Amino acid sequence: MSWYFLCKKHELPTNTTKSFSINIDEKDLELLVLSQEEKLYAYQNHCPHLGIPLNWQPDQFLSLEETHIQCSTHGALFTFEEGYCVAGPCSGQSLSSLTLEQRNDEIWLQY
Ligand code: FES
Repeated sequence: MSWYFLCKKHELPTNTTKSFSINIDEKDLELLVLSQEEKLYAYQNHCPHLGIPLNWQPDQFLSLEETHIQCSTHGALFTFEEGYCVAGPCSGQSLSSLTLEQRNDEIWLQY
């Protein structure tokens, strides 16, 4: 396991999502980070339905009501806290969660 710097906390205002691509051992890890109040969540940017990226637009992962993470392709909805799919073709499956740590104003990924 290693730590990878993602961004400064102020680059992730509350209720926003941001995508990242980290090159690890010559492979790209695609992920999204969701900022909610004081909490941060990170998931691999990989829909369990077809194994493709969740977003069509850069950094856009939220449903219209901003209550769930939403896959752009077939509209599957995932909870913020667990990445659990509550509606759509992959209901009952989950996004792969990743571990983050906040160090002062910096956000780091453990992988
Ligand atoms: S690819 Fe995500 S819901 Fe179908």
